[in-house]
Amino acid sequence: MQDTLNALTAKALIELSALFVRPDFEAAKARLVGPNGELTALMKQMGSVPKEDRPAMGKLINETKMKLQGLLDETLARIEGAEMRAQLGPAIDPTLPSPESGPGTYHPLTLVREEMCRILRKVGFTVADGPEVETEYYCFDALNTPADHPARDAQDTFYFPESARFANVAKKTPNERYLLRTHTSSVQIRTMLKGAPPIRIVSPGRVYRRDTSDATHSANFQQLECLYVDKNVTVRDLKALLDYVFASLLGHDTKIRFRPHYFGYTEPSFEVDLRATHLAKVKKEWIEIGGCGMVDPVVFSDVGYDPGVWSGYAFGMGIERLAMLLYGIDDIRYFYQNDLRFLKQFA
Ligand code: DAH
Repeated sequence: MQDTLNALTAKALIELSALFVRPDFEAAKARLVGPNGELTALMKQMGSVPKEDRPAMGKLINETKMKLQGLLDETLARIEGAEMRAQLGPAIDPTLPSPESGPGTYHPLTLVREEMCRILRKVGFTVADGPEVETEYYCFDALNTPADHPARDAQDTFYFPESARFANVAKKTPNERYLLRTHTSSVQIRTMLKGAPPIRIVSPGRVYRRDTSDATHSANFQQLECLYVDKNVTVRDLKALLDYVFASLLGHDTKIRFRPHYFGYTEPSFEVDLRATHLAKVKKEWIEIGGCGMVDPVVFSDVGYDPGVWSGYAFGMGIERLAMLLYGIDDIRYFYQNDLRFLKQFA
């Protein structure tokens, strides 16, 4: 019996080392250890082994079984490795020159973001930055958005677990949670707390919402926020700035209009629609592009600015939406797929 078992292991070693594809491997595995395989057949002979020899024989069979399993595991790993290498193709030689001539191109979202910042820098705005992980204070409370506001619902906002700690984000109070910012408006608060008026900032960046993704929604997208704080700022200044911004970005035939709306941090608040006869996507209708308004006095008081002295406007809009209008893109998901056929169109 021992010789038979050793012969089985030796035969398996030879057979398995000659296998290179999965179906052959599965067949060999069935032949060796399957219910109708050779090892099972040998185990069935145990009945005819004298009682006193059985424990030793059982041990031998177990050892053989383990050896065979080891061989099978090695063979499968080898076949899987080969499959993986075949999928990956030949190894990359990083010392070879690039097959494409010249440098790469900017992503369309980068192009629009940088163009907006350039347009705003020309009229005195500086670029401000803020963290994507925020506390409830900066994202909601300081923006006059109370705890029961639907935007704060866990269905809409990604919250971190209680135990999460972030060294680079402001400390949170015990009854606050960390979250992924749902808008760039949080940077308004950070900027006002850090500095003194007058303030004129633009802040582009990523924001996060619990949205299922489709042609017009993504759980992660980019916004651009502006805040202007000074003396005697009026809605006319806001409208004039937005007229200038959109005419510069989209062309001089672009028109915008304000529709009354509600945001906790501005009063009055508006949604901004735009229309541009020369853009395929906005020929006939008004398209909503963002929100804006005059900074609410409550927000000024919260950050220690005297609302009797200071006034200001703020607005925020989605960068993807702008890029889609500008380039006539009809599905937001193109921005994230990194398909070269798409990206190369923006060279
Ligand atoms: N935070 C708003 C949003 O994500 C957009 C917005 C509205 C920004 C009004 C503002 C504003 O600065 O004043 O939908």
